[in-house]
Amino acid sequence: MIAHYLPAFMILISLSSVAGLILYLVDKYLAHYGRCRMEIRNAPDRSCIVDGGVSLLSCLNDMELYLPSSCGGKGTCGFCKLTVHKGGGAILPLEKIYLSRREIHANVRLACQVKIRGDISVTIPDELLSVKKYETRVIDIKDIARDLKQVTLDLQNSQTISFKAGQYIQLLVPGTDQLRSYSITSNPKYSRRIELLIKHLPGGLCSGFVHNELQKGDLLTILGPYGDFCADRYLNRQHITDMVFIAGGCGIAPVRSILNDLWDKRAQNTIYFFFGAHRVDELYFADEYIRRDNTDEQFHFVPAVSEKHQHDNWTGRTGLIHETIASYPFVPGKTVFFICGPDAMIQAVSELLLSKGHSQHQIHFDSFYSGI
Ligand SMILES: Cc1cc2nc3c(=O)[nH]c(=O)nc-3n(C[C@H](O)[C@H](O)[C@H](O)COP(=O)(O)OP(=O)(O)OC[C@H]3O[C@@H](n4cnc5c(N)ncnc54)[C@H](O)[C@@H]3O)c2cc1C
Ligand code: FES
Repeated sequence: MIAHYLPAFMILISLSSVAGLILYLVDKYLAHYGRCRMEIRNAPDRSCIVDGGVSLLSCLNDMELYLPSSCGGKGTCGFCKLTVHKGGGAILPLEKIYLSRREIHANVRLACQVKIRGDISVTIPDELLSVKKYETRVIDIKDIARDLKQVTLDLQNSQTISFKAGQYIQLLVPGTDQLRSYSITSNPKYSRRIELLIKHLPGGLCSGFVHNELQKGDLLTILGPYGDFCADRYLNRQHITDMVFIAGGCGIAPVRSILNDLWDKRAQNTIYFFFGAHRVDELYFADEYIRRDNTDEQFHFVPAVSEKHQHDNWTGRTGLIHETIASYPFVPGKTVFFICGPDAMIQAVSELLLSKGHSQHQIHFDSFYSGI
């Protein structure tokens, strides 16, 4: 019976695929959407007339409104969210992966997946209205470890950047239209200079460029600041006794900025820093934190490596970082957690903390490897 209908079924599928392809090609190459009105509800002075037929993300970029876009507009990072009140067409299945039910209900969309086909009205998250483009010069680039470089950028044209410890910038990979996100590792008190820590990923476009080609004196374009992985909201709050930072590998980048900022602001909270790495040589800056741990009663540094080799001379903790945290009796309601690094580590630590009664509201995280 099934065999009888199979040829007809296959023909139907082929025809609908061809029809879909024709519609896509017509939309991409032949359709003209003319000039469309773009209303920015929370920044009416930025509303203007734009050319239709392009993605909302690239149109906003041209208007110097820079949404975060770690995947370069491929629809795989879920960062480029905004509210579309009018226009924008139906939500795509791909967008639903990154949107909660509440967001879908509130007309939140991924800007890279919305094509401008007519007049459109949007609201951009307020904090993104102040994101700017900066030209910078590399004034220092040095090896921190075998696979990690610290890059220091000096802002050009007398520009200054105001950011909070824990935020990140997007770097435009020279010669491409690709952006990559990097946490700012320097202290926010320096507004003309920022430091980044960039780990080498074999075959990686941006990290490969930074490790193999970038030179002192080169110019780089950055956008920012972005993100809310910020701890200062808990600074000296009486009901929060402990602030716990958990980093994996180059997830140390924003934590360095946050810790220096908290110490500058004379934080009274007790601070724990759990740092997990595969190998001992990936415990970047560990000496610095061990010294601080020895002299500051309010600071506890807990490094752990997951792979121990005989020649390492490592006498510290071994195992995954969430296993180390499990033995600490942090009190739910009085402790806040900031986790930064690969998704798998964030998930393992979050699950552990939730199982110990900590609230989701007091667990903050920054995923470096989101969707890529
Ligand atoms: C908010 C945020 C902050 C970040 N901060 C930092 C930071 O401070 N320092 C830093 O080094 N990186 C950071 N990243 C990661 C960074 O943005 C890039 O993803 C990373 O440098 C790889 O880019 P690439 O162009 O070299 O690799 P791509 O050319 O994009 O990818 C090359 C290959 O590596 C895989 N891949 C891509 N990214 C990763 C990854 N992170 N881990 C494992 N495999 C990957 C891809 O699937 C692909 O196969 C951050 C990411 C986010 C979202
Ligand atoms: S830029 Fe839209 S999902 Fe990544």
